[in-house]
Amino acid sequence: MNSNIDKNRLVNAVRAFPETTILVVGDLMLDRFVWGEVSRISPEAPVPVVEVQKETILLGGAANVANNIRAMGGGCILGGVCGNDDAGTSLLALASDRGIDTGAVVNDAGPTTVKTRIIARGQQVVRVDREEKRKPGGDVLKSLSDVFLEAVSRAGCVIVSDYAKGMINHDVMGILRDTCQRHAIPVLVDPKPSNMDIYLGATMLTPNSLEAAAMSGIEISDDETLFLAASRIMKNLDASAVLITRGPHGMGLVQKQQPLFTIPTMAREVFDVTGAGDTVIATFAMGIANGLEMQEAAWLANIAAGIVVGKVGTATADSHEIIQAINALS
Ligand SMILES: Nc1ncnc2c1ncn2[C@@H]1O[C@H](COP(=O)(O)OP(=O)(O)OP(=O)(O)O)[C@@H](O)[C@H]1O
Ligand SMILES: [Mg+2]
Repeated sequence: MNSNIDKNRLVNAVRAFPETTILVVGDLMLDRFVWGEVSRISPEAPVPVVEVQKETILLGGAANVANNIRAMGGGCILGGVCGNDDAGTSLLALASDRGIDTGAVVNDAGPTTVKTRIIARGQQVVRVDREEKRKPGGDVLKSLSDVFLEAVSRAGCVIVSDYAKGMINHDVMGILRDTCQRHAIPVLVDPKPSNMDIYLGATMLTPNSLEAAAMSGIEISDDETLFLAASRIMKNLDASAVLITRGPHGMGLVQKQQPLFTIPTMAREVFDVTGAGDTVIATFAMGIANGLEMQEAAWLANIAAGIVVGKVGTATADSHEIIQAINALS
C-alpha cells in the first residue's frame, strides 16, 4: 500500500457513506434479460425458438452508477430522461425499490432505452436494443434545470455518466456546471470521447485508457504517455484532475502540477469486468464527498473495482466488503 494513504481515513470515509448524497445524471437504461430454453429450430427461418421461462431487469447506464452508490449505503438522486412507457415505469419502480430518489428524472416523448438480452442455456442468443438518440430541449430542458437546481442543493458531489445517447449535451452540462459552481461541489464525468468538448469545466474525468487516448490523440503505451494524455485532457477541458482506468493495470491519477500517481489493481480473481467503470466513479465520488483527497478517493475506487470484478455480472460492492478489503491491505 502506498505510504501516503492512511487506511483509517479511508475506513472513516466509508463509515460516513450513509450521510452522503450524490446526484447522478446521464443516459438512463433498462437492462432486460429474457431467460429460456431452446428445443427446436424455427420452421419460419433458421433461428432457434426460445421458450421463455423468466424475465429479469436491472438498472443500466447511469442508473447502474446510482445502483453502485446505494449498494455502498449512500443516498442517491438520479437525473435524466426516460420515456412515458412501460419500460420507463419499470425503470423508475426498480430504482425506487433500490432506494434511489428519482425526483430528477423527467419524462420525454422518446422511448426508454432498453437493452434486451435473450439467454438460453446460459448463452446469449441475441441482444435487442431499443433506443433513440435524444437531445433534451424546450420544456424538458426547463424541467431538468429546475429539478437539478433542487437536487444539487442536497448533493455532496455530482456524477455525469455519459453513454453518448444524447442526454448529456452542452445545455445540460452548462446547467450542471453553473449550479455546482454556485454550491461549490465537484462535477465528475465518466466521458465518451465523441462528446469531449461538452465536458469543459468539469472537475474531474474518469476515462479508460482507450477513451483517454481518443480524447487526447496520444497513444497510451506506458506511464509517460498516460501522463501526457491525462495532462492534455486536463488542460483542454480546464479540469482539476483526470483518473485513467487501466483495466488489469489498475489506474493512474493526474492532478494539476502533480506527478502521475499510479495504483495497481486490487483484484485477486477476475470473473466479470462489466460495470467496473461505474463502480470506479461511484466510489470516487463518495470518497470526495466525504472529504477524502483525490489520491485517497482513487485508492478507494480501485479497491471497490477490485471487489466487483471478482463477482459475476454487473456487480456492486457494499461498505462492509470495502472496509474488509481496506483492512486486508498490507
Ligand atoms: N481485468 C482486470 N483485472 C483486474 N482489475 C480490473 C480488470 N478490469 C478492470 N479492473 C479494475 O476496474 C477498474 C476499471 O476498469 P476499466 O479500466 O476496465 O474501466 P472501464 O473500461 O471504464 O469499464 P466499463 O466497461 O465498466 O466502462 C480498473 O481500474 C481496475 O481497478
Ligand atoms: Mg467506462
